[in-house]
Parts: sequence; structure tokens; C-alpha cells
Amino acid sequence: MSEKIQRITTPIVDRKRHRKAPKGRRVDSDVWIHLQHLLGEEPKSADQLIEYLHVIQDHMGYLPVEYLTALAKEMGLPQTHVYEVATFYHHFDVVKESDTAPPALTVRVCDGLSCEMAGSIELLKKIPKLLGPHIRVIPAPCVGRCDHAPVAVVGQVPVHQATEKTIQATVDAGRFVEEHTQFLSLDDYKKNGGYALLNACINNQHTRNDIITCLEQSGLRGLGGAGFPLGRKWRIVSLEPAPRLMAVNIDEGEPGTFKDRVLLERDPHRFLEGMLIAAWAIGISKIYIYLRDEYHGCRVMLDKQIKLLKRNPLMADMPEIILRRGAGAYICGEESAMIESIEGKRGMPRLRPPFVAQVGLFGRPTLEHNFESLFWIREIIEKGADWFSSHGKNNRKGLRTFSVSGRVKQPGIKLAPAGITIQELIDEHCGGMLEGHRFYAYLPGGASGGILPATLNNIPLDFDTLQAYGCFIGSAAVVVLSDQDSVSNAARNLMNFFKNESCGQCTPCRVGTAKAHALISKPSWDLPLLSELSQVMRDASICGLGQAAPNAVDCVVKYFPQELKKSGA
Ligand SMILES: Cc1cc2nc3c(=O)[nH]c(=O)nc-3n(C[C@H](O)[C@H](O)[C@H](O)COP(=O)(O)O)c2cc1C
Ligand code: SF4
Ligand code: FES
Repeated sequence: MSEKIQRITTPIVDRKRHRKAPKGRRVDSDVWIHLQHLLGEEPKSADQLIEYLHVIQDHMGYLPVEYLTALAKEMGLPQTHVYEVATFYHHFDVVKESDTAPPALTVRVCDGLSCEMAGSIELLKKIPKLLGPHIRVIPAPCVGRCDHAPVAVVGQVPVHQATEKTIQATVDAGRFVEEHTQFLSLDDYKKNGGYALLNACINNQHTRNDIITCLEQSGLRGLGGAGFPLGRKWRIVSLEPAPRLMAVNIDEGEPGTFKDRVLLERDPHRFLEGMLIAAWAIGISKIYIYLRDEYHGCRVMLDKQIKLLKRNPLMADMPEIILRRGAGAYICGEESAMIESIEGKRGMPRLRPPFVAQVGLFGRPTLEHNFESLFWIREIIEKGADWFSSHGKNNRKGLRTFSVSGRVKQPGIKLAPAGITIQELIDEHCGGMLEGHRFYAYLPGGASGGILPATLNNIPLDFDTLQAYGCFIGSAAVVVLSDQDSVSNAARNLMNFFKNESCGQCTPCRVGTAKAHALISKPSWDLPLLSELSQVMRDASICGLGQAAPNAVDCVVKYFPQELKKSGA
């Protein structure tokens, strides 16, 4: 035992691999110089990534992958992050070195339900041959103009009631930028009493509490889909610590919905005044407006109106207003996904809690609202809570703006009492059914809100009235189907949309929408399997997209068994 203990030593090995070149793709210096020229000299912030991607794509016509590499370097972001974000959004065309760039002009043909019913699938078959190989023709989900179905978009220019002839004529006209000039100007808005209420607020003729109480009493509920009481939301956010932010949702991606666009096109300052009143009442320091990419004319117009207000501020310490451009992802309408997108990331919904009212944009308490919710503020406060709540039918209260499309004589936005039935809406507001069409079915709340048969034509259309039927009103997008349509085809169209738009974050939705679409595309539906799948999607999806995606399919099974018998299910 007298032997000396020998220590065991391990030779020190340098495990670091010495790279010959930096990690990732090499930056092409010419591309980098061009990129710096395109983006200007101001310091680049990570939340502006999507804006920069738009600048590059607008200039180049697509996103060459070398520019993504240079952009990552310029912004000090990982290349994978830039690539992931660019490839998440449908409107970005990322082109690798070995790929062929897309043609300079793209024609998007809407294949949403109302457009499909009006013949867009036939157009999609014929147009590529007509326009030739130098123009790209692709299907697009609802572009928010369903009352003019079928719709094509040539470059940025929408073609309503599109035909081969009108699409060709728009291409031949050679002007592919949309302008929107017919709206109530700032001067005219002011002449009609506009911004007087904001002035009165600023000059202490109303207290913040008065305004919030009035909105609480009016019963106004958020008009983006979830229907959360607006006044209550204002109170909750106002009690959170400053700085507080606001995010305005004009993503309007729910197929069948176009009310926000129409109202914005008519009267942008009514919305801006509502937004500034909210900012004043709650003490908001910065406002982000998220506008869907499809509304090109609106974007240019709104940008000009915001700049006008910045040049002539309506209040001391007017909050900064920042307009952000979407990039073609329906999921970015979901509030937490929208916030991720504004922060320059992929639009993937967050897990809640915490709610965005507490931890929202950039980690700050955030008031998030649909465009139309803010559009109503001025009128409700001027006319009073009782005025708003005195409207309504069938024991419901308030007014709703319905987007109506499909087989009616006069589609469009319809201001109607909350609680109106579909039959009243068709007969009293839409001029009845189209000649030769018999009312068969309807979607009460866009793609997510389910499908009901014409026999259930007496349900009051409002929040909380449709759940018992497996449906909801959402953003009040009503699509009317006739005896010439099939609800099982409609369900296939809608599930295809959800499959394409699922953000892919959670399995029940990513796999479930694809699986459900495959199942309902078969001649005979496997009903037990579909039922199990619906349940899993409802129970385990993170957000409303996956939870509501099975609604239409479940409604077909529940209300339209005759269609499934025909197909042999
Ligand atoms: C999949 C999905 C898509 C949505 N899309 C929109 C949209 O395009 N516009 C919108 O205002 N709200 C949309 N919402 C609802 C928002 O998450 C949120 O509830 C709403 O913007 C809140 O504003 P409000 O209280 O004024 O209604 C969507 C929700 C889900 C689940
Ligand atoms: S439900 Fe669908 S859209 Fe929502 S987080 Fe999951 S995968 Fe994304
Ligand atoms: S614009 Fe085509 S379905 Fe909405």
C-alpha cells in the first residue's frame, strides 16, 4: 500500500473545428451594396424585416436568395431567421440560385368559395393558355371582394366579375398599380363634424371614464370575430402599466369578409378618429396598423392620410402611427400571430395566457382591435350608448355590418340590426335570391363559422346565437348558396383553404386539416374517422384556425345527409 497513487490524465484535445469560411452562405459584396442602396442608410430594426422583404421584392420582382443572405448580414440576424420568415408568407417568392425567377407579371385568380361558385375554377383553367407563358397565373385565397365574384388581380389591379376578356384587357392596359381616390377627404370629413369629438376629449369636455363607460353601456362587441366587449377591453388595458401600445387589425383574411375594406375605402378618417380616441382614453404611446397586402389601393391612400395627420397633428403628443403591410398569410389576422408578424417574425399564434392585453407587442400591454370596432366609436359616443343598443331584432342589441356574397341579387355590405335572420337579410337587404336560384344553405360567419341549411332560416344572426347549431357569426361574412350548389363541395373548398393557411405550429391543425381535406375529397366520406379527427382538432389545436376548421365538415354531416347519401358515404 506504500505505492504512490498515479493520477490518470487525459491529453487535452482541441475539439474546436476551425472553419475555413464563415458559417452559412457567403455574402456577395455587389448584392450587399445594392441592398444597402435599396434600403437606405437608417439603422435596421429586426421588427421591420417584412417591410424590407417587401422593398426587395417590389424592386426585383421576387426575392433572390443572395439578397436574403445580404439582408441577414445587414440586419445582424441569423440567415435561417430571414429565410424562415420570407418563406412563411405566401406573397414572397424566394428564388434560389438554381431556380427560375417568376415572370414579371402575376395574375391571381381568387378560388375562395364565392368566386368558385361564380366560375373562378374555369377561369383558372383557361387563363394561362390565353395569357401565355410570360404571365404567371396562380390561384389565390379570398381577396376581400366577394361581392364582385369572380375576382382576378392583375399585378395589383383587381378585376371584378372577371372574364377572360376583362382579364386580357387589364393585362393589355399595362398599368398594374392600384389607386384609390374616391373617399371622404380630411377636409370634407372635418366639414362634416369630423375630429370634433377627439377635440372635445382632448379639451377635457369628456373624461376618459365617461368614454369607456359609454362604450360599455352600448354593448358594442369586437367585430373581428371573437366579440369581446369593447368597453371592457379598454378598461382592462387602461389598468395595465405604461407604456401601452395599440395594434389595429385590418388583415381581413376570413373568406367572405370585405366590410373593413369597403368602410376604409369610403371614410378612412372616421376610423382614424376612433383609433385616436382609443389612444387618448387608454394612454397609448404608439399605434401599429396591420393592413393585408391585398389592399394595395387602401395602403397608399391610408399612408397619405396618416402622413397628413402627422404634418398637422390633431393633438399634442399624438401617438406615433405606423402602417405595416401584411404578406399574404390568413393566420396573421389572429391577434397574437399579427403581433408576431409586426415584430418581424413568422405569424405563429402565441400560447395564452398571458393575453395580449397584458403582454402583447414587444412585451407591452396592447389594445388590439378590428378596424370596424374603431370605426364605430365616433358615432356611438356622439349619438349615445342607448342609440346603439336601441337597434336590434329578435331580442338582440346593436347594429352589424354584414358582408353578403353568393347567390343573392344584390351582394355587398349591409348595415342591419343585430339579430336579423338570414331570410330577412336576403329579402330586405339583398333584393332576394338570384333569378333561377332557390335558397339552399348559408355560411353565417365566413369559412370558419359553419354551414346551415335554408330550413334554419329564422335564427337571429348575432354573437352567442349560433353556437347551439355548431356555428358562429365571427366577422358576419354571410355566403348564400342555392340549389345549384353543393355544400360538400363548399366544405372541400373551405378545408383546402385551412390546409393551405395552417401555420403548421401544432400537429392537430397541420396534419388534421390535410387529413380532413383528403378524407372529404374521396367519393365516400369515412364519417367515424372524420368525427374523431374533428374532435382532436377542436380539443388540441392552439388557436381558432384549427379549432374552427372542422365546423363546415361537421355541419355537412349534421344538416345535409342527403348529399352524403348521393355520394355514397
Ligand atoms: C384564424 C383567425 C383569423 C382571424 N382573422 C382576423 C382578421 O382578419 N381581422 C380581425 O379583425 N380579427 C381577426 N381574428 C380575430 C382576432 O384574433 C381578434 O379577436 C380581433 O382582432 C380582436 O379585435 P376586436 O375585439 O375589435 O374584434 C382572427 C382570429 C382567428 C382565430
Ligand atoms: S391551430 Fe393551426 S394555425 Fe393555429 S397555431 Fe396551430 S397550426 Fe397554427
Ligand atoms: S374575393 Fe373571391 S371569395 Fe372573396
